[in-house]
Amino acid sequence: DEAGKGNYPHFMLKEIFEQPRTVKRTLDVYTHPAHQTLGLPRAAADQINLADVSSIYMVSCGTAHYATRVSEYWFEQLAGVPSKTDIASEFRYRRPALAKNSIAVFVSQSGETADTLAALRYCKEQGIKTVAIVNVQTSTIAREADVVLPTYAGPEIGVASTKAFTAQLVVLLAFAVAIAEAQGHLDEAEVAALSNDILTVNSAIEKALSLDDVIKKEVIHFEQAADAFYLGRGVYYPLALEGALKLKEISYIHAEGFASGELKHGPIALITAKTPVVFIAPFDDLFEKSLSNLQEVAARSGPVLLLSDEKGIAHAGSAPTRSIALPNTPEIIMPIVQTVALQLLAYHAAVALGTDVDQPRNLAKSVTVE
Ligand code: G6P
Repeated sequence: DEAGKGNYPHFMLKEIFEQPRTVKRTLDVYTHPAHQTLGLPRAAADQINLADVSSIYMVSCGTAHYATRVSEYWFEQLAGVPSKTDIASEFRYRRPALAKNSIAVFVSQSGETADTLAALRYCKEQGIKTVAIVNVQTSTIAREADVVLPTYAGPEIGVASTKAFTAQLVVLLAFAVAIAEAQGHLDEAEVAALSNDILTVNSAIEKALSLDDVIKKEVIHFEQAADAFYLGRGVYYPLALEGALKLKEISYIHAEGFASGELKHGPIALITAKTPVVFIAPFDDLFEKSLSNLQEVAARSGPVLLLSDEKGIAHAGSAPTRSIALPNTPEIIMPIVQTVALQLLAYHAAVALGTDVDQPRNLAKSVTVE
């Protein structure tokens, strides 16, 4: 029963636990049944004319914006296509100049966000192809866009977006793979290998969810904190922004995300024994750099929670105060696995503080006015 709470105390927790299913259901639509490779449904691929896309603008708000920020790395690294993301309320009034043969992608759970809709209308006036990634297929944004790429997260009731975010991520990933293939940036074998890795994501999410009790204990990290910081590099930088947003939305702890490399340009001035820092740093090419940032925080008595994978935790030694070891997974799906831990961390922190998790103060599920 997708519309009820089932046995869960909150919709948010139920929606977090639905993710193996909602991500798989979404991925299935973007997987070629015979080849088991990712891509877009034929009609959408033809309409977008993937081979000719020169650049991508992505416009959205809130959590959907952070999904696009993660995918920027995929469009650039997998497909070699320049991409730019913007917040809809900025984009619509900046009247941006749009490059020829570019496309504009609007990501929205509800498909009704006023600023995102206005940005879509602006792009249509400019005559560029518009693509909507929406969870509600009957929504205004879905109706007005040239092409719709649905997410199949099912109804999301909790105000803090969880399963819609991971569904957006997998559609964006399929989109990046489709462009990469159409433009010859990845060959057939590379697409097959990458798809194979991506299709393990639901079992990786299951494993992350099985760590719920371990993650719950780590909320002690935020005990009595007025401020908390989230740091990450590369694709984990936008995830740090999303992790901080999740925490502030439902626990009301002031939280900010930063790029780890920017630490020394300002945020480090804020570090004290009372500012918990979450480092999102799986074991990848940038791990050593993140570890040295982590040590800089620890040297200033900042309590550090390292969110990593088993390999990363083993390499970090005693540097972090606390740590969460997510299962080792293929690198491409790790951001989605880390997301689950960030969601659970925010959820349990909010429950510990006794806030109204599903209906946080002052927030609305869908913002249909400016
Ligand atoms: C509101 C919600 C957020 C959501 C944002 C964008 O602020 O509380 O959870 O991310 O709107 O909504 P959309 O429906 O466009 O994804």
